[in-house]
Amino acid sequence: VLYDIDKERQDKVGVIVDYIIKECNVDTKLTLSNEPEEAFKDADFIFAQMRVGKYALREQDEKIPLKHGCVGQETCGAGGLAYGLRTIFPMIEVIDYANKYAKKDHWILNYSNPAAIVSEACRRLRPDARIINICDMPIAILDQIGQCLDINAHEMEYDYFGLNHFGWFTKLEYQGRDILKEAKDYVIENGTLLSKDIIQKIEQAKEAGIRHNDASWLKTWANMKTMVELMPEYFPNSYLQYYLLSDLVVSQSNKDRTRANEVMDGRESNLFKGVEKYLETGEMDKKTFYHGEHGNFIMDLAVALKNDTGKKFLVIVENKGTIPNLPYDAMVEVPAYITKDGPQVISREPIGDFYKGLIEEQLASEKLLVEGAITGSYQKVLEAFIVNKTIGSAHTAKAILDDMIEANKDFWPTLK
Ligand code: G6P
Ligand code: MN
Repeated sequence: VLYDIDKERQDKVGVIVDYIIKECNVDTKLTLSNEPEEAFKDADFIFAQMRVGKYALREQDEKIPLKHGCVGQETCGAGGLAYGLRTIFPMIEVIDYANKYAKKDHWILNYSNPAAIVSEACRRLRPDARIINICDMPIAILDQIGQCLDINAHEMEYDYFGLNHFGWFTKLEYQGRDILKEAKDYVIENGTLLSKDIIQKIEQAKEAGIRHNDASWLKTWANMKTMVELMPEYFPNSYLQYYLLSDLVVSQSNKDRTRANEVMDGRESNLFKGVEKYLETGEMDKKTFYHGEHGNFIMDLAVALKNDTGKKFLVIVENKGTIPNLPYDAMVEVPAYITKDGPQVISREPIGDFYKGLIEEQLASEKLLVEGAITGSYQKVLEAFIVNKTIGSAHTAKAILDDMIEANKDFWPTLK
């Protein structure tokens, strides 16, 4: 069942899903529904991803902070906080539908962003929900490293810790080789986390319809070099650039054309043009719905839950002492063994002061935002903005927040 609250978009996406089912020649019936009861009825697995406010509001999340000289990003900094305030309550609605209509032992596998804030809101408001919040970025980084070093990413051994979009690989090994060091050396030598093959054919790569080759992602892969040089101990998640290289990222941004514009003019428009062409001619250009690693990741996780495989996955879970020197109730992103009862987390050593300090500041921002959403408190939300590392002063934080209240008036809870 494909469920959406936007029927027009759902009809188009449905064309592609239907095509894929036919292509795979499997005995699966597709139903499109806009009714929660029909859609969630007796479900075993619910794959969730929502974008509240769609790309029009993503564009605002990116452009408003930039106007004030701060990082403008979908899930990090002020943009992420704004997106969080839009998403918390619709996400809780999905959990409630699942509890009401789905099977008792259902699982919700959730990609909805900003995942750190969404996870904290789930923990606060629906602590018993059968939801696993996930992100594909660390896996996508492993893939990039695999391409750079010409080895199979699926055969790498890794260890990782952090918050969502705020973490580090602490170990990377392949057949006993220390890949962590090789990956850092590669990035420093080549100035980017792109394979030599792509670097050589960069112009064609940009045109290939693969999202990690789009202009803004190319900057992201290049900024990995600066991060690795300045902080060489571990291998960083690329999202750390927004916090740790914020002035550089702002200087690389175009205030009038952000990632949202790139996506609207590229992926979104190509997808719907592809659907139209298919309906007119019966010819499907598969490039138009390229799915990336996140499609495989969510399926592999569902298989692990269903078959109780105990396979290791990175998931976002309540800390509960896993990282002993972080708060018990922090929602952390760490490896866990996946069984039919959900993630079984692996406990670890305390983390160093550098990481602890950075994480605690970011965690406070996320927790304050969720507290502000639940209590409707302007002051708490303002504090979330002030404590965020991407925003330089309390004065700027207030100016951004006030602009965002205006842009989000149809989506945010009322703040008093
Ligand atoms: C990565 C992140 C996702 C994020 C996406 C944005 O995959 O893990 O959380 O939504 O990038 O990609 P886009 O192509 O829309 O900028
Ligand atoms: Mn993510």
